[in-house]
Amino acid sequence: MTKDAKPATLAAQALGWVDEWTRAVAPQLHLSSTFLRDEDNQYRSGHNYARADNPAFDQPEALLAALEDGAEAMVFASGMAAATAVFQSLQPGEHVVAPKVMYWSLRSWVTSFAKTWGLAVDFADMSDLDAVRATVQRDRTKLVWVETPGNPMWNITDIAAVAEIAHGAGARLAVDSTVATPVLTRPITLGADIVMHSATKYLNGHSDIVAGALVTPTTDDFWERIKQNRIQLGGILGSFESWLLLRGMRTLFPRVRTACASAQKIAEAFTSQAGVREVLYPGLQNSRGHQIAARQMEGGFGGMLSIRVKGGEQAAIATAAKVRIWKRATSLGGVESLIEHRASIEGPDTPCPPDLLRLSVGIEDTGDLIADLSQALDQARG
Ligand SMILES: Cc1ncc(COP(=O)(O)O)c(C=O)c1O
Repeated sequence: MTKDAKPATLAAQALGWVDEWTRAVAPQLHLSSTFLRDEDNQYRSGHNYARADNPAFDQPEALLAALEDGAEAMVFASGMAAATAVFQSLQPGEHVVAPKVMYWSLRSWVTSFAKTWGLAVDFADMSDLDAVRATVQRDRTKLVWVETPGNPMWNITDIAAVAEIAHGAGARLAVDSTVATPVLTRPITLGADIVMHSATKYLNGHSDIVAGALVTPTTDDFWERIKQNRIQLGGILGSFESWLLLRGMRTLFPRVRTACASAQKIAEAFTSQAGVREVLYPGLQNSRGHQIAARQMEGGFGGMLSIRVKGGEQAAIATAAKVRIWKRATSLGGVESLIEHRASIEGPDTPCPPDLLRLSVGIEDTGDLIADLSQALDQARG
């Protein structure tokens, strides 16, 4: 593989690896949990035990680091395992700033973990830079966490601006870039210190594994702490899942580009639909974060959007009940389109409006998706 190959080429060819033994162009599946020690008691292969350094991680990690412009990447058992490894690498007493609206399970874990671990956590509206400045504390805040586009309202955070605020206060910036993917945004090039992915979603893309990943621009002490966390707590990805993840990543670019183009058309189609109160999508020119998204997302605005249904919660649930092509399921980023009444899964304390349906656009025919959702909205209205 030539050095100047574009990211889409690096992904399609998984960095151009060919197995030296067999000349196979598809990667090997490494299942061994343990590795042979040399006669002189060394481990020259670099591998001793699969909880610490499974060779099955090498290729997906190297590819992801290349796509994100990072120095190193680590894969984890889930997106939550990856995200929590970052928070668990902070010291008791340190201050964290996180978004008011973000992936719900992580927000609720951070809130309870902070109490037992002794972290101080404040939540801010990350799309309001004055609010971020007012919440970050010089020399006390050690981590600023953002998610952009952010679940489930798809708010946009200006990564470069928040990186400047975080660094000015002596804090690191971590970006949950699950929805943007390295196809659209590379947070490290905008100043992020950690990039996090639920690799369950677009990176794998086929709704058949649960996985997570982190990427760093430098292998500093904090990264080492995270690495030790994965080795010692054991939140590792299985070998087969690592292999599937690499296979999924090879089609990342065409999948994400197709989903983006379709999501844009769907968002535009439903802004004028009777039965829809509002469409939330950063690709819409009048959406709040559009200008920033246009700057920091290249080639599309993502495959995720939400619609707020006229008639409230019952009308939203009734609409989801009537779809025939969209699948009624949680999660996102797969080749099949999903529809979800988000408040139902987030529970009573959610900031998610009760009339909101979250849509994960897959790679099906766009016309089919629009027609199916239209008929479901019409049927729900009676
Ligand atoms: C934006 C985002 N971050 C993190 C996660 C958690 O990832 P996982 O389910 O792989 O643990 C999710 C899962 O839905 C997510 O959507």
